[in-house]
Amino acid sequence: MPYTPIASAAASTVASAAAVAAQDLKVEAPPKAELGDFAIGCFAAAKAQRKSPAVLAAEIAASFAPSQWLASATATGPFVNFRAARPAAFRWVVTAALTDQLLPRALGAGQTICIDYSSPNISKSLAYHHIRSTVIGHSLVQIFRALGYRTVGINHLGDWGTTHGMLIAGAKLWPEALPEPVDVAALGALYQRYRKEMETDPKLEDLARQWFGRLERGDAEARAMWQRFRDISWAEFETVYQQLGITFDEVRGESAYEAAMPGVLEEMAQKGLSKESEGALVIELPGEKAPLLLKTKDGTTLYATRDLAAAQYRWTTYHFTRSLYVVDRGQALHFRQLFAALGLAGHEWASRCEHVPFGLVRLGGKKTGTRAGNVVLLKEVFADATDDVTPRIAENQAQLPPEQVAETARMVGIGAVVFANLVTQREKDVDFTWEKVVSLDGDSGPYLQYSHARCASILRKAGWTSSNVEAAAEAEQLDFSRLAHDAEWAVARRLLDFPEIVARAAQSCEPHGICHYLLDLAGDFSRWYTAGNGDATLRVLCDDEDTRRVRLMLTAAVRATMARGLGLLGMGAPDAM
Ligand code: ARG
Repeated sequence: MPYTPIASAAASTVASAAAVAAQDLKVEAPPKAELGDFAIGCFAAAKAQRKSPAVLAAEIAASFAPSQWLASATATGPFVNFRAARPAAFRWVVTAALTDQLLPRALGAGQTICIDYSSPNISKSLAYHHIRSTVIGHSLVQIFRALGYRTVGINHLGDWGTTHGMLIAGAKLWPEALPEPVDVAALGALYQRYRKEMETDPKLEDLARQWFGRLERGDAEARAMWQRFRDISWAEFETVYQQLGITFDEVRGESAYEAAMPGVLEEMAQKGLSKESEGALVIELPGEKAPLLLKTKDGTTLYATRDLAAAQYRWTTYHFTRSLYVVDRGQALHFRQLFAALGLAGHEWASRCEHVPFGLVRLGGKKTGTRAGNVVLLKEVFADATDDVTPRIAENQAQLPPEQVAETARMVGIGAVVFANLVTQREKDVDFTWEKVVSLDGDSGPYLQYSHARCASILRKAGWTSSNVEAAAEAEQLDFSRLAHDAEWAVARRLLDFPEIVARAAQSCEPHGICHYLLDLAGDFSRWYTAGNGDATLRVLCDDEDTRRVRLMLTAAVRATMARGLGLLGMGAPDAM
């Protein structure tokens, strides 16, 4: 679908030559920039006309007349390659970027996307491997929202289950294990100890089960202890969310679905889906080796049972177009079973539920996960990254007051970690190599932020004081034909791709496309900017007043798009670093 007037004009030209809708045509970049700016294959149109695509492409090119947005058309095999009318395209893209209208904000109108992300388990540290869910989910919220969707960011806190019986039992048995002030690390250690001692002392298993039973029945002491552990955990998680600028629309833990359990079990029984197997209650699913477990043989409901209730709750509350679960790929079976069971139960909306899986993070060649003994804490990674970049920023920006250096370092340090988690395709494992993550050159977060800061610094040097909106108004009057170099056009051509890239990232739930796009934009900008080193006429801050003004406009448009893109990834855009 074309998202800019230039791409639309190209699509309309082909569409009007045959009975196809312009909306259905794919507008692509030709394989080489020399061929043109936009390529459209004539396959479907030719079929409708019973012609060969190459013949139709040649006919369209031969009868082409230049228009407001298009300068020329040539046929290459089955493709028509169009060239943009550059001054008009420059003006449009600069104005759209400066007024934040580059993205198709009507795309998601009237549609709701639920995004379950982060969703850690209480009484366990938010360790490094949690960041991927948190960071990918947060980015998806920004992406969908930018496209006009209503988004519901959900933290499905893991705050229920037999684990909590172990914690309460452990705290009663060994109060000295939780010295004040109690933190999540101590709770995590207590849980590990309980599990270990349970291996040799089977009585402990019983004890934990008893405490969980009391918790389920609403026993005051059990409830109070559980609540306390939950509060301690949440307070710690929140400091991390604050650092990342995350707020959830809904924090509803698994415990919130306790009351819905009888209803879920009844529904599944009534529909003839659940059955007893070795004392447990299960749903057997066609094509799956393992059944979905609803209830253990001692009557406790499980993670899956609560997820069935949560899915239904989300449907009745939000009537979502898509309900996403950003959870590591290790839970693929769970989600496959969950959605299949909902489908078997006759819920048409089950097909709108999607698991958005992601790969693990390897730190120093080692995969991190809860079971990997050496758990690296997220807050420590952020602190280390921030420490790492501070001296460089302090050196580059000696004129900045220390608070601003600290603030920028925080933005860059956290941004570096965020970017490293997004730049790798979602389903691939991330190799987290520290030096690469915080490097200023290379495909890193700091490199993108630096590129944004460089645009800002050029504008500062030029005494640019206009707001983006003022600049956009001014763009109406300027002569964009002064941007006559291919290096300048390459930047504008890249900006024109932004809407398509973001729409695709939403469709595939893949923020990594935006990461690579921004790296390309930074590269195009840098090529243009450095071309001025060898050729004075190409300098942004050249002598000719009118040329300088349009070059600054293009710089401001890059800066605005870079900031917008970084925002979609959940990263800050510093003005100096
Ligand atoms: N708490 C779970 C875990 O840490 C993730 C929950 C994901 N969301 C869900 N609805 N199951 O593994």
